Amino acid sequence: MFDIRRQFPILGREVNGYPLCYLDNAATTFSPTVVLDKVREFETGYRANVARGVHRLASEATDAYESARASVAKYINAKDVNEVVFTSGTTGSINQLAFGLEGSINPGDEILVSTLEHHSNFVPWQMLCQRTGATLRLIPVSSEGILDLSAIGELVGERCRIIAVTQVSNVTGDISELRTISAAAKRVGAKLVVDGAQAVPHGPVDVQALDIDFYAFSGHKCYGPTGVGVLWGKSEWLEQLPEFMVGGGMVERVTVSGTTFLTSNQRLEAGTPPIAQAIGLGAAVEWLEQLPWGEIREHEARLMNQLFRDLNTISGLRTIGSDLNQPRMPIISFDIEGCHPHDICHIADQYGVALRGGHHCAQPLMDAVGVMATTRASMAVFTSQEDIETLVVALHKVVEVLR
Ligand SMILES: Cc1ncc(COP(=O)(O)O)c(C=O)c1O
Repeated sequence: MFDIRRQFPILGREVNGYPLCYLDNAATTFSPTVVLDKVREFETGYRANVARGVHRLASEATDAYESARASVAKYINAKDVNEVVFTSGTTGSINQLAFGLEGSINPGDEILVSTLEHHSNFVPWQMLCQRTGATLRLIPVSSEGILDLSAIGELVGERCRIIAVTQVSNVTGDISELRTISAAAKRVGAKLVVDGAQAVPHGPVDVQALDIDFYAFSGHKCYGPTGVGVLWGKSEWLEQLPEFMVGGGMVERVTVSGTTFLTSNQRLEAGTPPIAQAIGLGAAVEWLEQLPWGEIREHEARLMNQLFRDLNTISGLRTIGSDLNQPRMPIISFDIEGCHPHDICHIADQYGVALRGGHHCAQPLMDAVGVMATTRASMAVFTSQEDIETLVVALHKVVEVLR
């Protein structure tokens, strides 16, 4: 299976004289050659704008762009290819949605978000509440940072209009029980918005089976290019979503007295879209789809076991989130007593180890857990046993230096 590493040219580089040990995949991961080649093919072979021109290059670019949309629709099992809207990323998708849903929110309505959300799935809803007079309610987390759904029945009241939760926490790797949340949303007719940024990189998703209304994710976290993302929505909801941005590419007719808009999803993609990036994302999800996920999951479980066991040998280290008895993704956050996460990351970098230290854009979660920041190691399909060994050796050195 570890032939997979050969597909990532960037893994050949060194950092500070050490082989790169990249464990910041939850922030951004790398693209395999097949994605890089696809983008290069566009740039060197048929770079042109989409849905406008009739010349050969324009039609090749349009075909490739629409075929990428079809690949994404297949990967997330959308019912209809037109339910896929290309955006700039998860943040772009959720902001577009929060503005789009504004007309359906009245003073006194409620929007429910979880305390462990990435700010991208928190602040847009908080601001929507401020703009509309709705109330923001929170699904709590325990002091270990674990989502607590025990009171979901009471939290989802009759005035609840939107529930926004992540499928996988970018801090702890915990997987949310979406079925429980979806059942509560259905009971009162609230729309369920799911942030899939940390789920999509870890295997195909089935938005229909999840029984949700909207889904958002980013290309750069799932082996695709930066600058592109997806907003998926059930057709009946997307059709009702007003235009977020207006301009070229999405109008039916413009006159000096008014404008009418296209009815398709192009209406939600104003201006020149991220064409190369969307085509690259299409290649990324096609590549993801054919990976041996059973083997990958076993491999990831072995690495997580190894990591949890070895982290236990570091005194004063505490992990945040669930233990290994819960199904989880290979993302782990920890706090080492007496060592600031930024110092940990800085020293680890001296040994070629890329970690993330900080609040991970999840400050309400940090507050609930009682820390300012954590150190996070996040794996990708190319993470090896040697990477985990290198990480643990580096952490022991870090602690020696900092204590
Ligand atoms: C769970 C989650 N949601 C949203 C985002 C925001 O993604 P982007 O910056 O690509 O818009 C991230 C990025 O770290 C994330 O992990």
